[in-house]
Amino acid sequence: MGEMREMMDTLLCLWAAAFFGVTQACPEPCSCAGKKYGRQLAECAYKDLQAVPVGLPGNVTTLTLSANRINSLQEDSFAEVTQLQSLWLAHNEISTIGKGTFSRLVQLKNIDLSHNWIMDFPWGDLYNLTALQMLKLNNNRLLKLPWEAFRTLRDLRSLWINDNNMAAISERTFDSTSSLSQLQIHNNPFNCSCRILWLKKWLENTSVSIPERDSITCAAPYHLKGVSLGKIPLLNCALPSLQLTYQSNLDNTVLHDGLTFMLHCSITGTPQPEVRWKIRTSSQGVEINGPNVEKDGNDLPAESFKQNKEQFLVFKNGSLAIPKFSKQYEGTYTCQAVNEVGTREVSVNVALASSENPAEDILRNNIQAGKVGEDPSKAEEKIVIIYHTPTMPKTNSGGNQRDPQLWACLLLFGLRPLFAF
Ligand SMILES: *[C@@H]1O[C@H](CO)[C@@H](O)[C@H](O)[C@H]1NC(C)=O
Ligand SMILES: *[C@@H]1O[C@H](CO)[C@@H](O)[C@H](O)[C@H]1NC(C)=O
Ligand SMILES: *[C@@H]1O[C@H](CO)[C@@H](O)[C@H](O)[C@H]1NC(C)=O
Ligand SMILES: *[C@@H]1O[C@H](CO)[C@@H](O)[C@H](O)[C@H]1NC(C)=O
Ligand SMILES: *[C@@H]1O[C@H](CO)[C@@H](O)[C@H](O)[C@H]1NC(C)=O
Repeated sequence: MGEMREMMDTLLCLWAAAFFGVTQACPEPCSCAGKKYGRQLAECAYKDLQAVPVGLPGNVTTLTLSANRINSLQEDSFAEVTQLQSLWLAHNEISTIGKGTFSRLVQLKNIDLSHNWIMDFPWGDLYNLTALQMLKLNNNRLLKLPWEAFRTLRDLRSLWINDNNMAAISERTFDSTSSLSQLQIHNNPFNCSCRILWLKKWLENTSVSIPERDSITCAAPYHLKGVSLGKIPLLNCALPSLQLTYQSNLDNTVLHDGLTFMLHCSITGTPQPEVRWKIRTSSQGVEINGPNVEKDGNDLPAESFKQNKEQFLVFKNGSLAIPKFSKQYEGTYTCQAVNEVGTREVSVNVALASSENPAEDILRNNIQAGKVGEDPSKAEEKIVIIYHTPTMPKTNSGGNQRDPQLWACLLLFGLRPLFAF
């Protein structure tokens, strides 16, 4: 008799579900309830769930999935519940979150993903979540936080990213979060180099409440290990500044071996910047990161220029040489200096004048082109023109036919060195 009764109940239940449609259903382990002010709850905490249950009512606004064993979230995990305002997922085993998992949940105000195993978060999903007020990602394994992650979150009040594996937070990260009132960032293995100095200063002066300041500590460098960020000495950090000058071997007016053109980039900055050259000609774009010639100083014999296979020789002292300068090397030469504090660069246009293409024409064409530079970090482009006139060799007695000697003269426009401070 009892069994019969149970079967009837089940049938009735199935019939009811079919009749009222899936929206009314509540998945088996969860309990669903309507609340005041249009809130609709689905409560599925402590149920040993390994995935987000399917069949949730479409109008759920609060979904509680805390303390389960969910290990991944995908783009369709919350496809049924796009009205969500609060999503509680703390204390699961989430390690992977697919791109797009949250991007359609545009009503979300609160997300708690704390105490999971997240290494990589789909930060781009946050871009859509302009209503977000609380984001908890603490006690995960996050390594990186892109500076633009929160750029649309103007209502974000509470952000918890403490107890993760982040070595740095970039300077512009909190520029847009104008409503931020609580920020937890302690217990991350910060690398206390020049890159983090802004955070020390920001912490000293911000009105945002920042708990556990003594636990905002350095993990590197070694001598600052365990020291709190507020107590580290002011590091000596300076943006690179650079100066570009040029020289050529044109003081010998007769050039048997062609024209060697040389640019010199002298650089200062703390820590010592690395130098890169970027060369753009009509036929090629070349990037040279660091020296490609071992020798340094002024003791390089002229022979080595001839033997070298490289078209562009970059020396440790900051010089770039083009051993056989010709028309094909016309273009823009950029010296770039990079250190932890930032990047600066300065460029020069190099053009070769000849009788078919006189210096006045080049100048006229390039001065207009040179006005484009909008990037304030780039110094204005200047033009160096090398005037190059091949002449027939004056041979005495018709001896061996030699390569034509090259007569050259250097016209320098904007003779001052180029600076970028
Ligand atoms: C959600 O849908 C269920 C079933 O249709 C309904 O009973 C409930 O009132 C709805 N809740 C809200 C907040 O609209
Ligand atoms: C949310 O973002 C996705 C891309 O990630 C986009 O296709 C969608 O239109 C966005 N939705 C809203 C409401 O902005
Ligand atoms: C810390 O940052 C500096 C400068 O960027 C870098 O050279 C160093 O390798 C970093 N240390 C660690 C442990 O990541
Ligand atoms: C500290 O913040 C105030 C405004 O909140 C600002 O006027 C002041 O310049 C800041 N000081 C420093 C050292 O940044
Ligand atoms: C840098 O080294 C090269 C090769 O020795 C040399 O030709 C050049 O003059 C040096 N530049 C400066 C500015 O000393």
